[in-house]
Amino acid sequence: MTLPMVVPAPGLPARVRIHEVGARDGLQNEKGTVPTQVKAEFVRRLADAGLTTIEATSFVHPKWVPQLADAEQLFPLVSDLPVALPVLVPNERGLDRALALGARRVAVFASATESFAKANLNRTVDEALAMFEPVVARAKAAGVHVRGYLSMCFGDPWEGAVPVPQVVKVCKALLDMGCDELSLGDTIGVATPGHVRQLLTALTDEGADVEALGVHFHDTYGQALANTLAALQHGVTTVDASAGGLGGCPYAKSATGNLATEDLVWMLRGLGIDTGVDLDRLVATSAWMAEQLGRPSPSRTVRALSHKER
Ligand code: HMG
Ligand code: MG
Repeated sequence: MTLPMVVPAPGLPARVRIHEVGARDGLQNEKGTVPTQVKAEFVRRLADAGLTTIEATSFVHPKWVPQLADAEQLFPLVSDLPVALPVLVPNERGLDRALALGARRVAVFASATESFAKANLNRTVDEALAMFEPVVARAKAAGVHVRGYLSMCFGDPWEGAVPVPQVVKVCKALLDMGCDELSLGDTIGVATPGHVRQLLTALTDEGADVEALGVHFHDTYGQALANTLAALQHGVTTVDASAGGLGGCPYAKSATGNLATEDLVWMLRGLGIDTGVDLDRLVATSAWMAEQLGRPSPSRTVRALSHKER
């Protein structure tokens, strides 16, 4: 299999943890609903490819995200895997559903903007934070790891540019609430590297621990890898990505695919940064998933390597 030559660059971490979101962020945005057994095989193959954190599904209202309405059926099919399987929970009802199935990692998801808070959660920003507070408290009391997502950190389709202090304020609220980690979402993919650096600097200047920060880039304008490199240079070691570049967000129309996990692994491998991922198996998984979905993967790396004899 073709692999990049390894040429390390200074000032980068030795290891990166990939938070794989294809089965959730990817499949929530498909027009059709993928059969539960196919989703389960997808998650199993991702684990087999060496991914250790695989976001499995969402315990949201099934009418809001019908693509993931089978969460109760799916989770038990994958919960034996020896990997972390975070699930999205917007409220206590979602947490109850997740805990009943033995989930050990949950994620709440806030918005930096009022427009997206309303569109995605039917709440103002403050109402959404109030909704998460008991979720985080109860999850922590049960020893469950909590991730906080923050969407629209770099731009919003209704409101345009989002001021950095506005983003920092909601980040702080999530961290103060007790979230163990925070994923900074560029939901519509408008960020550029200087903007990423500016937000991360503002957050670490305010006392945020860079170890608790992750980045979640969508590749709408082809900036996701450049933005990732800027984040790594700032000390971030958790990067969200979606196998095959699947993804988007049903409540943010201009959101396209996430950063493709294969493209990320290719870059990190070239930089000599360890991820534990077997690129060959991952590409085969995304090529298989693309067949299930009936269209080619948007990932450059998947396309390049699928065409080569491996
Ligand atoms: P609402 O309509 O305001 O709900 O929606 P409600 O609290 O008024 O409750 C209405 C009914 O829904 C009640 O039933 C509840 O029990 C039920 P009734 O008493 O009328 O019979 N209900 C639920 N049922 C099952 N599971 C639940 C649940 N909650 C309430 N969890 C709500 C509020 C938060 C539920 C809704 O807005 C929702 O489900 N939103 C989810 C949207 C979503 O999943 N978006 C995609 C994920 S975010 C994303 O993709 C961004 C990210 O990738 C980062 C980035 O890129 O930026 C993370
Ligand atoms: Mg997303």
